[in-house]
Amino acid sequence: MHNETLTPEATLPELQHFRPTTSRASASHPEGTLVDKYGRRITYVRLSITDRCDFRCTYCMAEEMTFLPRSEVMSLEECLRVAGVFVGLGVNKLRITGGEPLVRKEALWLIERLGALPGLDNLVLTTNGSQLERYAGSLRAAGVRRLNISLDSLRADRFKAITRIGDLDKVLRGIAAAGAAGFSRTKLNTVMMRGVNDDEFVDLVRFAMDHELDISFIEEMPLGDIHGRNSVFISSDETLERLGKHFALLPSTESSGGPARYWRIPGSATRVGFISPHSHNFCDTCNRVRITAKGELYPCLGQNDAIQLMPILRDPAAGDAELRQAIMDSMGIKPLGHDFTEQMEAPKVVRFMSMTGG
Ligand code: 5AD
Ligand code: SF4
Repeated sequence: MHNETLTPEATLPELQHFRPTTSRASASHPEGTLVDKYGRRITYVRLSITDRCDFRCTYCMAEEMTFLPRSEVMSLEECLRVAGVFVGLGVNKLRITGGEPLVRKEALWLIERLGALPGLDNLVLTTNGSQLERYAGSLRAAGVRRLNISLDSLRADRFKAITRIGDLDKVLRGIAAAGAAGFSRTKLNTVMMRGVNDDEFVDLVRFAMDHELDISFIEEMPLGDIHGRNSVFISSDETLERLGKHFALLPSTESSGGPARYWRIPGSATRVGFISPHSHNFCDTCNRVRITAKGELYPCLGQNDAIQLMPILRDPAAGDAELRQAIMDSMGIKPLGHDFTEQMEAPKVVRFMSMTGG
């Protein structure tokens, strides 16, 4: 999600509300690949398979959440169908997200089938780690390549306060289970919050080094109606400067093709990443779209425009050709970028991260 040249200020409001005027892929790009109107090639889909979660992280959810009724959530067969059509359009990377994807009943049924989809080279999963002790082995066997695990604190009481429910020990056991199952380069995701967990960044990096994990620090994004985000905001640059007093951080040119910028620590395999939607906007290299558990295709995490896939999925007269066309049409509404910084106190994006998937 990151870049240097396009600042959030450069986002043109009129472009964010652009409606597609053509229903075909641009003539300069081969039919059957996904290229948006700014020339960005879409090869990566993030698929949320549930809006539910067994945690209630303060930055992600309200204390009382209403979750979607089952009938409004894509069935696992529908998820598989959508994924298959995307892969047919040249998508080669798929991330399963939530909510917490592993609380979805039979999630493994889907993951095993996605793991066997020809053309899908890179199946990855984002999780809060709570269920990994149970599932790590099966996920690995199903062909999941890599895991991202959210971890904002190493102190049990604080972990509980941030997640409102979570049990740190269970997550730590989950992280260990991932290693034991053969996952390598597992990445921790830490949302940076001043006065909440900023005194633990050094410990979290040490933990990552000790367990041969990568770690990404994330600037909080204004998703969902949660106020007071500005008061806890810390920029990546400030964290980097602070970490620099403890570790000899070397900038790295490595990229996972995504928004993170990475630093390395000599003598360690750990990569320290920063996802900085505010301070280093990354939209110009964006290669992804998101699908919510409701079957909404969001071309941009930071905007409200979406294409509804559910009516197509549930129309007995519509086949994969219609689905494919709708996905190709969505390229016309993929905006140039987000404007998260202006939205911190008054979020414009009303859905929570648990809807769109982290
Ligand atoms: N801003 C930044 N990151 C968030 N996440 C959830 N909500 C937000 C937000 N508002 C992160 C979680 C998790 C990933 C899925 O997204 O910490 O690591
Ligand atoms: Fe659940 Fe992840 Fe949201 Fe926390 S951030 S409530 S773990 S979906």
